[in-house]
Amino acid sequence: MRSDLFEATRRSLQREPKELPPVWLYDERGSLLYEAITRLPDYYLPRREAEILAVHAGSIAAQTEARTLIELGSGSARNTRFLLDALGLERFVPFDVSERMLLESAGAIAEAYPEVSVEPIVGNFEHDLAALPTDGPRLIALLGSTIGNLDPQHRAELLRLLAQELREDDALLLGLDLVKDVARLEAAYHDRTGVTEAFVRNALTAVNRELGATFDQRQFVYEPGWDLEHEWMDIGLRALGPHVVAVPELKLQIAFERGERLRVEISSKFRRDAFETELDRAALSARSWWTDRLGDFAVAVAS
Ligand SMILES: C[S@@+](CC[C@H](N)C(=O)[O-])C[C@H]1O[C@@H](n2cnc3c(N)ncnc32)[C@H](O)[C@@H]1O
Repeated sequence: MRSDLFEATRRSLQREPKELPPVWLYDERGSLLYEAITRLPDYYLPRREAEILAVHAGSIAAQTEARTLIELGSGSARNTRFLLDALGLERFVPFDVSERMLLESAGAIAEAYPEVSVEPIVGNFEHDLAALPTDGPRLIALLGSTIGNLDPQHRAELLRLLAQELREDDALLLGLDLVKDVARLEAAYHDRTGVTEAFVRNALTAVNRELGATFDQRQFVYEPGWDLEHEWMDIGLRALGPHVVAVPELKLQIAFERGERLRVEISSKFRRDAFETELDRAALSARSWWTDRLGDFAVAVAS
């Protein structure tokens, strides 16, 4: 798993614009910072998703008859509880790269739902789907618009892998943030308290620690922005002046120019038609599509 991440980091840092794989955001501290973000008033995503799941979890249970729920990128698995309450499961398999958060949330769920066998897996959902249990019917969930953190090429690849993984009686459940007013999007990723900035900067701290890199936080300013062409929030940092960052573990020297961006994450915002085309290309189709009252967020069932 580490060598895949190191290789992905090498490629990302040599790309134009330079990037870091978003997995670096979710070390132990990053996972706690993300939890703090979910409580920010302007970060509407988890609350809109909760609104939809509160209304439609029964319908998801009736449609899928799932006995195993697998949640990719489960994090604190807070909204998952709507599904756990409705589904009548034998098994819950939270799956995440962030081990500490995964084990803590798995422990809390095992305590709250003693009738369900909770079987956490530490892994990267872009590489490790072979580790998933096969007994069905299975519902594979990706909540919190986590799929929006993948660029279109990686998203297509993940949807293709998931389509291969799904059997006849399995289904996929996706939480998707929708395109909306740019000011609201920007407010969601640029809070005044600085928690989101700390979360993004923590990726540099993680790379310094794990790869011996020499990223200097003072050389960068936090700068999230709406990318109109791709309809994603481009979340990253901008170099204040020319400088070189060494990454000894990858035997790299990365030169930044003044004003050059380092992308740490994207958060794609979706439209129904375009997303259904993406599903179609992966040989999947949406069985249901629900939104919250304001039309901010969608939850889709696909098979
Ligand atoms: C946006 S958060 C969503 C967390 C949770 N699903 C929620 O809705 O609150 C993304 C989660 O996916 C995990 N994650 C990100 N990339 C991953 C990957 N490639 N493989 C496995 N987990 C990943 C992170 O550790 C984090 O817990």
